[in-house]
Amino acid sequence: MTLPKHVRIVEVGPRDGLQNESEPVSTAIKIELIDRLAAAGFAEIEAASFVSPRWVPQMADGSAVMAGIRRRPGVRYSALVPNLRGLEGAIAAGVDEVVVFGAASESFSQRNINCSIAESMERFRPVAAAAKQAGLSLRGSVSCALGCPFEGSVAPSAVADVVARLADLGCDYIDIADTIGVATPNQVFPAFEAATRQFPLERLSAHFHDTHGQAIANVMAALQCGVTIFHSSIAGLGGCPYAPGATGNVATEDLLYLLQGLGISTGVDLEATVAIGQWISERLGRRATTRAGNALASRQARLAASRLAATQTAVPSPCTSVCTIDPKTGRCAGCGRTLDQIANWSVMSNDEKLAVLATLPS
Ligand code: HMG
Ligand code: MG
Repeated sequence: MTLPKHVRIVEVGPRDGLQNESEPVSTAIKIELIDRLAAAGFAEIEAASFVSPRWVPQMADGSAVMAGIRRRPGVRYSALVPNLRGLEGAIAAGVDEVVVFGAASESFSQRNINCSIAESMERFRPVAAAAKQAGLSLRGSVSCALGCPFEGSVAPSAVADVVARLADLGCDYIDIADTIGVATPNQVFPAFEAATRQFPLERLSAHFHDTHGQAIANVMAALQCGVTIFHSSIAGLGGCPYAPGATGNVATEDLLYLLQGLGISTGVDLEATVAIGQWISERLGRRATTRAGNALASRQARLAASRLAATQTAVPSPCTSVCTIDPKTGRCAGCGRTLDQIANWSVMSNDEKLAVLATLPS
């Protein structure tokens, strides 16, 4: 089995992840998330959407998010744009790449962007031309390429058709998306085979959601197809508000763990990623949806606790036998500690113990 030596990860948590949050997430948290991800080594971050705020209120602050982040050299910040108005917003906000998002299923196209597949391509045409004119990278997304919440299974020929249309618009990259996370690997192979008949494999990416727990298996299948660009979401956040029942993307931590195990490089720091996943989950008030991330975070917590325990024993109790309290002073007649200091000794940090010892008569 030949697998790639290096893959690129597009971190979609700040957009695909957060867009589905029912409670408003503050602009400050979105900015901090993006900055932390860039610092962890992610070179491609889907940062915002310039869509109708009536359709996706959570993404209404895209301009403020882009204005607030610390732009890291070498990082490509992308955003979704459904029409020319969205493109204008994205250009003004200084995004590096815009994403036009179509679908391989008519029903989903109608529900998500309120037009047919053919109409969407006509709408995207001037967007694509203007994006190129502005010197931006252009990405096309094929939603429901592996199953539709309204129509069920989707034929590989429908995928090929939309990929061909996006290629014709001049897309630099095209995403094959399992929007509702229903596919199994046997569906991944024909979908990519169909797509590669229309567009170069090295510029196709795999975007899997994990609704049925198949995302990592599907990543493995896509690797076997030769795919080298994968989308994932920190802490497994996400879903699409117009795809009923769909849960988050494959968790970035799970993806990184798999790739690291396979000896495939990504340029991303797994340990830092795990910490970011735990941080954002805490901010959102829930446990992260990542098996690898939670397991590694627990391991890190256990290691930290045992390191602390090791330092705790470094300062021994000043009494070598049992302390005897002098009723007049309320202190141990041997070492001079108070009853409280004796009782709390085992839970004090080294520094606290040393502070107590410093107050005792030598
Ligand atoms: P519409 O209602 O047909 O369009 O929506 P409209 O032109 O009649 O506009 C409706 C309102 O939106 C108007 O405001 C416009 O001004 C405004 P009003 O006059 O009623 O106050 N508007 C905009 N505002 C800001 N930015 C814009 C914009 N455009 C119009 N760009 C439209 C059509 C495409 C706008 C709408 O359907 C829409 O925004 N859809 C976006 C849905 C979406 O973001 N879905 C989630 C992302 S896709 C996804 O998650 C899948 C993906 O992850 C891959 C995968 O997993 O499959 C990418
Ligand atoms: Mg998605």
